[in-house]
Amino acid sequence: MILVTGATGNIGRDLLGELATCGAGPVRGLTRDGARALFPEGVEVCEGDFADPASLERALDGVRSLFLVSRIGSDADILDAARRAGVEHVVLVSSITVQTHPHLGPARENATVEQLLKDDGMAWTVLRPTQFASNALWWAESIRERRTVRVPYADTGLPTIHPADIAAVARVVLTEPGHRGRTYALTGPERVTARQQLEAIAAALGREVSLAGIGREEAHRQMSTVLGAEAADAVLDVTGGDVNEGLLEVRDTVERVTGACARPFHRWVSENIAAFR
Ligand SMILES: NC(=O)c1ccc[n+]([C@@H]2O[C@H](COP(=O)([O-])OP(=O)(O)OC[C@H]3O[C@@H](n4cnc5c(N)ncnc54)[C@H](OP(=O)(O)O)[C@@H]3O)[C@@H](O)[C@H]2O)c1
Repeated sequence: MILVTGATGNIGRDLLGELATCGAGPVRGLTRDGARALFPEGVEVCEGDFADPASLERALDGVRSLFLVSRIGSDADILDAARRAGVEHVVLVSSITVQTHPHLGPARENATVEQLLKDDGMAWTVLRPTQFASNALWWAESIRERRTVRVPYADTGLPTIHPADIAAVARVVLTEPGHRGRTYALTGPERVTARQQLEAIAAALGREVSLAGIGREEAHRQMSTVLGAEAADAVLDVTGGDVNEGLLEVRDTVERVTGACARPFHRWVSENIAAFR
């Protein structure tokens, strides 16, 4: 049995689809709201909450492989419960910032989870994706309502990744041999700036979307109300304030692991344009 956490999320949704069609054996998806979850046929819906140990124990019953989206629940408790339940292999979604910006708070937290997993005795595979294409959804309301977006660092290009490519890599490492004890840094196929992302969205909508460049202070004020001050600073650093070679590098890991080219940003736009109408 494979348990997919974050099953209704950006990666989990696609991963369930991949696992359901590849003959991976029994698959269970974890969600806090089973009634809302639209899982592919054959996937077991498992209602549970990381904050509720009894529900986590139920979710892990009979599980041998765990797909874990980090930093949503208490990862130490989740890994402990997984080990006690007899899980053999954990595929952990961490972040590329563990290697590119190890001094930032969120990266330190991810590094701690990675180390916990490696010390836990179960087999492991760590996925370190870069910025998700789906982060563009942060602009959806502003585009729908005002046809304009206020963004900092509009001309910094980053190798944004389609979450479906993270899911495709996760499917391979969960179901095929040769990936245990490996850490994979994952990026998209090209660097794309916020300005280019908005141009792609505007082209798919068939109408203009204007971009207003804003400074770091204004962006920080906006973001910290949702994320908190430290996380807002970290996001601003890794989206333009303090980028480095490691973060800018386009990597071929998706293609090497899955055999298929990583999907470009405009592919994500064409699949998700309804959110911006
Ligand atoms: N966004 C980026 O640019 C980026 C870059 C690098 C790494 N990452 C990492 O990627 C991960 C985010 O993945 P994602 O985008 O797939 O997440 P997501 O779309 O935000 O999904 C979060 C999922 O977590 C579930 N969830 C939330 N609270 C829960 C709880 N208390 N108990 C059980 N499940 C809970 C939600 O399911 P229900 O609502 O159905 O319960 C949802 O499916 C994080 O580990 C992040 O650090 C993100």
